[in-house]
Amino acid sequence: MRPREVKIVEVGPRDGLQNEAQVTLADRIALVDALSGTGLRHIEAGSFVSPKWVPQMAEADQLFAQITRRSGVRYAALTPNLRGFDAAQAAGVDEVAVFGAASEAFSQKNINCSVAESLARFEPVMVAAEEAGLKVRGYVSCVLGCPYEGAVAPAKVAEVAHALYAMGCYEISLGDTIGVGTADRAVAMVEAVAARVPLSALALHFHDTYGQALANVLACLELGVSTIDSAVAGLGGCPYAAGASGNLATEDLVYLLNGLGIRHGVDLEALVQAGNAISQRLGRPNGAKVARALSGRGTAQQA
Ligand code: HMG
Ligand code: MG
Repeated sequence: MRPREVKIVEVGPRDGLQNEAQVTLADRIALVDALSGTGLRHIEAGSFVSPKWVPQMAEADQLFAQITRRSGVRYAALTPNLRGFDAAQAAGVDEVAVFGAASEAFSQKNINCSVAESLARFEPVMVAAEEAGLKVRGYVSCVLGCPYEGAVAPAKVAEVAHALYAMGCYEISLGDTIGVGTADRAVAMVEAVAARVPLSALALHFHDTYGQALANVLACLELGVSTIDSAVAGLGGCPYAAGASGNLATEDLVYLLNGLGIRHGVDLEALVQAGNAISQRLGRPNGAKVARALSGRGTAQQA
């Protein structure tokens, strides 16, 4: 059944900017601060990963030290291993995320180990997080296709999602990393995962490569999924998934939810301004259709 309220997890400063060569620490801080003024309550602000692998996310400790923390907003970060977790904890993150994959080849390219090795590497992170009282989110990448292996079986997605949930992740974000999924396949995948992980613990993370993200969200909302990841201005891509375009744009998601009468707490006008600012900084049009429509009209009217 369609939820009455949706939690939006804003991943623009991380999943969006991790792919941008020109972005500075100041730009990243400005984006996080603009987003925290929109009513968004969960912002993935950065990653504590190797700067050799993803230089765009370097200096995450500086980012967390310099953002203006707003009460009621959870600031999260990716932590692939214990080293990343320790740095994230020292920086004062509110929660962390580990990230695995439903595809062996993608796991190797993204985090340089097999799926099983990645799960073993997350165990000490879970232990340390529990000791520190920090919640851990788990990602599964390539849930609807892999850039290297092609089709991915829903049963494999369910297996990895269950493993993350069983080790203590409170929420499992199912990522269509390369944005190839369509609505029926997304529903079948979510149904397979929901047979092993409670639906209330599932989040969806669509990239919009083929323009299907919003259709996939709508189909999965009907199943009762109530947590959706998105990125302001449709920022994004993945350094290890060639051809993956941006995430579902938060502005487009908000417009859909407004039309459905589903609560989310985000001010669309403030969001459009935040997206326009970072798009201008990156020297490209805002990737959110809703932002372009509203900006063209001169005012950002609510749907
Ligand atoms: P590795 O090379 O196998 O590990 O990398 P290592 O332990 O041998 O370390 C290599 C070097 O990195 C060493 O430095 C370590 O000290 C350093 P060196 O001795 O060569 O000077 N190092 C670190 N530095 C900072 N922070 C750390 C850290 N750990 C090691 N935490 C590793 C393994 C996981 C570290 C590496 O592969 C990595 O950082 N990968 C990052 C991948 C990434 O961020 N990908 C993008 C995010 S995932 C995504 O976008 C998908 C998602 O959005 C969902 C979806 O769309 O579906 C989540
Ligand atoms: Mg992603």
